Amino acid sequence: MIAIIGGSGLSQLSNLDISRREVMRTPYGEPSGALQFGHLCDQQTVFIARHGYGHTIPPHAVNYRANIWALKHAGAEAIVSVASVGGIAPDLGPGVILVPDQIIDYTWGRNATFFDGGDTPVVHVDFTEPYDSRLRQRILSAAARAGEGVVDGGTYAATQGPRLESTAEVNRLDRDGAHVVGMTGMPEAVLARELGIPYAAILVVSNHAAGRGSSEHGIQMEEIEATLKLAMGRVHNLLQHFCGA
Ligand code: HPA
Repeated sequence: MIAIIGGSGLSQLSNLDISRREVMRTPYGEPSGALQFGHLCDQQTVFIARHGYGHTIPPHAVNYRANIWALKHAGAEAIVSVASVGGIAPDLGPGVILVPDQIIDYTWGRNATFFDGGDTPVVHVDFTEPYDSRLRQRILSAAARAGEGVVDGGTYAATQGPRLESTAEVNRLDRDGAHVVGMTGMPEAVLARELGIPYAAILVVSNHAAGRGSSEHGIQMEEIEATLKLAMGRVHNLLQHFCGA
């Protein structure tokens, strides 16, 4: 079974024929919402909306541990994250879809591990390749079959939010080697790794990052929403071709 975590612009998976909903309790508290089970083409799928179904949970307050634990215990064998990002590189403008291969984590104060002391022995998970390469390839071939152009690879900067960045901050992320910036990629990716679940992401560029391109003098939320609406249709199409990939 494959799990999909939907971000901003994807709080419902319209092509999932939902057969069951389950509210799960976890040792880490409540997930963002009920898990929705169904089929996406022929593939058994479980879906959760990262920010809740009413989009009320901000990035720093998402219970990432509860979400990942719930998906694991629901039987997820792979997790595809869908999230929106700001484009730092000039060629990553609004509407671009990217499958990243690296992460830099700038978040703080989040519950970022399942190995949190107590009786569990300390484990230092390998994170050399933060995204699962086989799952990335499955996404890329699904995109090819769907006829959706996607960018293969890039470095995701995870910032704390919920505010957007200053121009100087984006310049710093750029110098650090980041290509896109978002607020939810960590600790989600590492928690999946800790539980041994292959994890990869589909990122939709909703805006130029602060100070870049059309965001030189500010970022308009209306523009973000309009871009996301269009691009999420393409993500639906991509996911529809995920089966057999
Ligand atoms: N910065 C951080 N997160 C984001 C952005 C951004 O510009 N756009 C969408 N998510």
